[in-house]
Parts: sequence; structure tokens; C-alpha cells
Amino acid sequence: MDIKNYIASIPGFPKEGIIFRDITPILQDPQALRYVTDTFVDFVKKTDADFVIGPEARGFLFGVPVALECNLGFAPIRKPGKLPRESISVKYGLEYGEDELCMHTDAIKPGQKVVVIDDLLATGGTTEAAIQLVEQMGGKVVGCGFVIELDDLHGRDKIGDIPVCSLAHYA
Ligand code: PRP
Ligand code: ADE
Repeated sequence: MDIKNYIASIPGFPKEGIIFRDITPILQDPQALRYVTDTFVDFVKKTDADFVIGPEARGFLFGVPVALECNLGFAPIRKPGKLPRESISVKYGLEYGEDELCMHTDAIKPGQKVVVIDDLLATGGTTEAAIQLVEQMGGKVVGCGFVIELDDLHGRDKIGDIPVCSLAHYA
């Protein structure tokens, strides 16, 4: 399956100069959703991961089905002010300014091996923050799966030598 047939490209959203890559057509089509999920499941099985995490909000859409199919648990990475229990946070750089991502302190057990699933890798700031959160809890990220990778933004440089699985590439 050419998954790019299920990714809509919207020039000028959310602002001029950006081409937004929209994964909602994948969600609308059960075969495309099955293809993405199965491809990530194969990738997760090649790692020795025992847990899945995904960043708000689009990372939840793919991370939870992958975790379920792998018979693994899932924990959300959230923006500040959303998690109700004791949490840790990491600040990360945006193109302009700073943002913060959080996880519940008990989300990852020491020694756990974790895969990060998200819809899109751009600058890599989100994934880098996810890796730091996992490491602060004594876990290790052993793989990262993205539906889309924006190659020109070089997000992989922030991921180091952790295995990456990207299903579609755009400049
Ligand atoms: C988008 C996307 C990734 C992140 C990638 O999420 O879903 O999580 O940006 O960008 P990066 O590699 O430069 O960090 P966004 O923060 O827009 O949140 P959303 O999923 O809630 O729309
Ligand atoms: N997140 C960061 N850059 C994006 C893009 N071009 N399309 C969709 N989500 C994004």
C-alpha cells in the first residue's frame, strides 16, 4: 500500500509557508489504518520493547492500537496541566521559544524498554523530550515509529542511534 495516498497535504495551514501533512484520511480507512498499525507492530516486535508511549494528541491515535496489538501497555505524553497525578516534565525547544511535555511519574518502570509512536517527525524536539522523560524514569527508548518524517528538518539527528521506522517521507 502507498500510504501517501492517505495523507492529505494542505499548503498554508496553520500558517503561510507550512504544508500541513494530515493523517486523518488514514483513520477514515480501515485498510490504511490496519496497514499502518501492522507495520508498526512488526517494527515493535523487532525491538525488544515492553511498553509503548505516544505524544498528545496525534501520537495517541496510532500508539494505543499498536500497544494493544503487541499486547503491551501504553502511557500518554501530555502538555502541561493535563495529567492529574504526580508527574515529571521536560522543556524542549520550538522554532521560536519553548514548550514542555509531561508524563506520570509511575508511567515507566526502571529498566523498561519503550517504543515511541507518533504521527510525524519534524524537528525531533517532541521525540527528544520523550526520550529524556523515559530516561528520567530509568527506562530506555529502543525504537521510534512515525507515519511521516519531514526529512529536511533532520529530526533524526536528535534521536541518535535509536532505530527509527518512518512510513512516508516528505521534504
Ligand atoms: C506535532 C506532531 C508531533 C510533533 C512533531 O504535534 O503530531 O507530535 O508536532 O514535531 P517536532 O518533531 O518538531 O517536535 P503537535 O505539537 O502539533 O500537537 P498535536 O498532535 O496535539 O496537534
Ligand atoms: N507538525 C510539525 N510540522 C507539521 C506538518 N508539516 N504537518 C503536520 N504536523 C506537523
